Parts: sequence; structure tokens; C-alpha cells
Amino acid sequence: MNSFNKDDNNYFSILSKIIHQRRSVKPGLMNGGQIPDEQVNELLHLADWAPTHGNTEPWRFIVYAHDSAKEFSRQHAELYKNNTLPEKFLTDKYEKLISNGDKASHIIVAIMQRGNLSKVPVIEEIAATAAAVQHILLGATALGIASMWSTGGMTHHKAMKDFFQLREEDIVMGIIYLGYSEKELSGRRATPMTEKIKWM
Ligand SMILES: Cc1cc2nc3c(=O)[nH]c(=O)nc-3n(C[C@H](O)[C@H](O)[C@H](O)COP(=O)(O)O)c2cc1C
Repeated sequence: MNSFNKDDNNYFSILSKIIHQRRSVKPGLMNGGQIPDEQVNELLHLADWAPTHGNTEPWRFIVYAHDSAKEFSRQHAELYKNNTLPEKFLTDKYEKLISNGDKASHIIVAIMQRGNLSKVPVIEEIAATAAAVQHILLGATALGIASMWSTGGMTHHKAMKDFFQLREEDIVMGIIYLGYSEKELSGRRATPMTEKIKWM
């Protein structure tokens, strides 16, 4: 294993700081600032180094940059409208889905593309893709970019899957909003660590 022989504590403290500073920032709290595409590309390259059982590398990303992020948000709202019974349709929700693209810079749709290595259970393909998404969020934090992983709106609806022409076995894992924000957010954990860990 490669090891960091010197400054180990320094690497740990930087990583720890990044992990603690990552917060979900709703796209409505972003300020419209635009991230250079090269930086988003760097985040996607971090995602590619997630652990992957059987090297299936199931993560796939569709990137909507700048104006196309607004366009995707409109398309998302239309998906909602066209696949919701009139009596269940909420105008507020429709408008919020559109407004999600107003101040975000980039929107990344994260997809788990099921590999054909059947010995790898689907939950592990989902887990690997989730790890890849987390790499994006942490990389973003390190670059001062606000982020939010959302599964709102039509994320898990078949209409979204069809929109991206996915197969039955593939999964839309989330919509990642990226942008800039001045909002200082503090983290909150509801369950104490003592209830989550059992040392033997
Ligand atoms: C898979 C997944 C889906 C999420 N979907 C939403 C969502 O649809 N809307 C939302 O407001 N937050 C969503 N979140 C963000 C959580 O609300 C957030 O992570 C949680 O409140 C903890 O806050 P933190 O991310 O700042 O630590 C999602 C998080 C995950 C992991």
C-alpha cells in the first residue's frame, strides 16, 4: 500500500476538515456564480476513483453546464407535469423544479449502470456509485463549491429513467447541484455516535 510517510497528520487534518465542512446547500441558496467546466471535470475524475467490486465501475454521469442546467430543470418540471395526475399536481412543486436551475452552475445526474458481472450484487453497484458521488461532493467542498445531492422530483420515477433511455436495471442515483453560495451552514447529526458504533 502506498503510504504517506511524512506529514501524515497534515493529510488527515485536511481531509477531516473537508469532510466536516461539506454541507448540503439547496440550489435556491446558490448565487448564480459559474464554475469553470475544467473544475467540474476534475470532480468527475475524482468520482472515477471510487472503490468498485469486480471493477465494474458502474457510475455514469450526465453533465448539464450553465444554460443547459436551466434547460434540464425545465425538462424535469415537465416530466413532473406530464406524469402526475391533475388532482395530485402541485404548481408550487412544478415551479420549484424549474427554479432549481436558476442559480446552480452545473447539474450532474448520477446513474448506476448495472454491469454484467452477475457475481456483483446490485446493492454493491449502488454502493460504488454512491461512493463516486461522495467523491464529487468532497472535491467540490475542497474547491469552495457548494453542492447538493438530491433525489427530489422525478429522480426515482420511471419517466426519468425513460428520459435518459436507461435500462430497467439501471438507476438514477441522484441529481447533484453545484454552484457557489455565501450561505454558512452548520451540520447537524440527530443520532449520537455512541448509538452507531459497537466496539468489540
Ligand atoms: C441519497 C440522498 C438523497 C438526498 N435527497 C435530498 C432531497 O431530495 N432534498 C433535500 O433537501 N436533501 C436531500 N439530500 C440531502 C440531505 O438532506 C442531507 O444530506 C442531510 O440533511 C444532512 O445534511 P448534510 O448533507 O449537510 O450533512 C439527500 C441526501 C442523500 C444522501
